[in-house]
Amino acid sequence: MAVTIKNDIKWVGKVDWEIRKFHGEEYSTHRGTTYNSYLIEGEKNVLIDTVWGPFGDEFVTGLEKEIDIEKIDCIVANHAEIDHSGGLPALMERIPGAPIYCTENGVKSISGHYHKDWNFMPVKTGDSIKIGDRELTFVEANMLHWPDSMFCYLSGDNVLFSNDAFGQHYATERLYNDLVDQCELYQEAIKYYANILTPFSSLVEKKINQLLAMELQVDMICPSHGVIWRKSPLDIVDKYLEWSRGYKTDQITIIYDTMWNGTRKMAEAISDGIKDSDSKVSIKLYNSARADKNTILTEVFRSKAVLVGSPTINRGVLASTAAILEHMKGLRFEKKGAAFGCYGWSGESVDVISDRLKEAGIELMDDGLKVLWNPDEEALGQCMEFGRAIAAFTRISDA
Ligand code: FEO
Repeated sequence: MAVTIKNDIKWVGKVDWEIRKFHGEEYSTHRGTTYNSYLIEGEKNVLIDTVWGPFGDEFVTGLEKEIDIEKIDCIVANHAEIDHSGGLPALMERIPGAPIYCTENGVKSISGHYHKDWNFMPVKTGDSIKIGDRELTFVEANMLHWPDSMFCYLSGDNVLFSNDAFGQHYATERLYNDLVDQCELYQEAIKYYANILTPFSSLVEKKINQLLAMELQVDMICPSHGVIWRKSPLDIVDKYLEWSRGYKTDQITIIYDTMWNGTRKMAEAISDGIKDSDSKVSIKLYNSARADKNTILTEVFRSKAVLVGSPTINRGVLASTAAILEHMKGLRFEKKGAAFGCYGWSGESVDVISDRLKEAGIELMDDGLKVLWNPDEEALGQCMEFGRAIAAFTRISDA
C-alpha cells in the first residue's frame, strides 16, 4: 500500500517479509527486506526505482491505484541490480517509450539484464530534470556498490534518494527510522555495511565528503531497502563515515570449525587466555560450519582482531573455514589476525589459514598455533598462553 512520505512524494515499494536469503544464498535476511520505490507527482510524474522481479506485476497493479500509469513521465533507475530494476519489464510494457534516467553504466547493466531497447537517458553528476519549481539532481556513486550506482536529490523537498547506500535488509510496516526498534535497525544497517560496502570504504568516505561539500539541506534520506531516515537523517551518514574509516571496537572474534572437537577446545582455551590477560575485551566465538556467515562477518567488522582455526584435512582446511576466508578476502577488512588448529599427520591447516589471512589483507600477529592430536592439558595451556599473547599484542597496537 502506498504511503505519502512528504508533500507529493509517495513510497510505492514492496515489503518482503518472507525472504531469508538475498543475492542467491550469499546474504541472510533474517528480518526480511523491502524494495523501496518512490513516486513524485507534480508537473512531471517521476518514478524512482522499482522492485525485485517476482513482485513486478504486483508492483504495477499497486502503482495503478496511485496514478494512471500512462501519466508517468519518466523513470529514474538509480541502480540496475534486479532487486530495484526487476519491475521495469512489467512497467515498460505499459509505457515503452518512457525515458529511463540512469548512468552510462546503468544503460549497460540494465540492457545486460533485460536485453530491451528502452529509451535510456544517460546522466552524469550535476545533471538534473525539472519538476515544476524543483529539480531532481543526479549524483553518480560509482562502486557504491556497483559501477552503475547513483543517488538523486530533490530540491525544495530536500530529499536524498540514496538507493542501496544507508539501506538495511529490514522488513517493517513502520517505514521510518524513528518508529522502529533502534537495536534491530542499527544491527541490520551495520550488517549491510559490513557485508556489502566494506571493500568500497575509501569510496564511501570520498562520496560522503563530496555530498557534504555540496552543502545540501537534507531533510530525509530515502534508501532502496529498509526504513526512510527522517529523524536526524545525517546520523546514518555519520555512522557511514565512522564505519568507512578502519572501524573497530574492543572485540576479538574467534572463528573455527572442528571435526572431533579438538580445534573447538583450542578456540575456547585461547578465549580463556585472552580473557585472563584482558578482562575488558569482548570475545566472540563462532563455529563457521554452524553460525550464519553474514553474522560472523559483521562481528569480524566490529573486531580489532580475528583468529581463524581449522584442523588439517587432506593437507588443507575444512570447507567452512575456506568459505569464510574467501569472504574475508573479498571484503578486505583492516584487521589483525592469527591462525590455529589441531592435526594428526601433516598439519598444514595453520599455514594455509595464515596464507589466506595475508591474502585477505589481514596483518598477522603470530605464525599460528598447531596442536598435535586432541589437545591435552599441556596443549590447552599453550592455547591459553597464545590467547594471552594475542591480547597483549592487540593492547600494544591499541595504545
Ligand atoms: Fe539492493 Fe545493489 O541492490
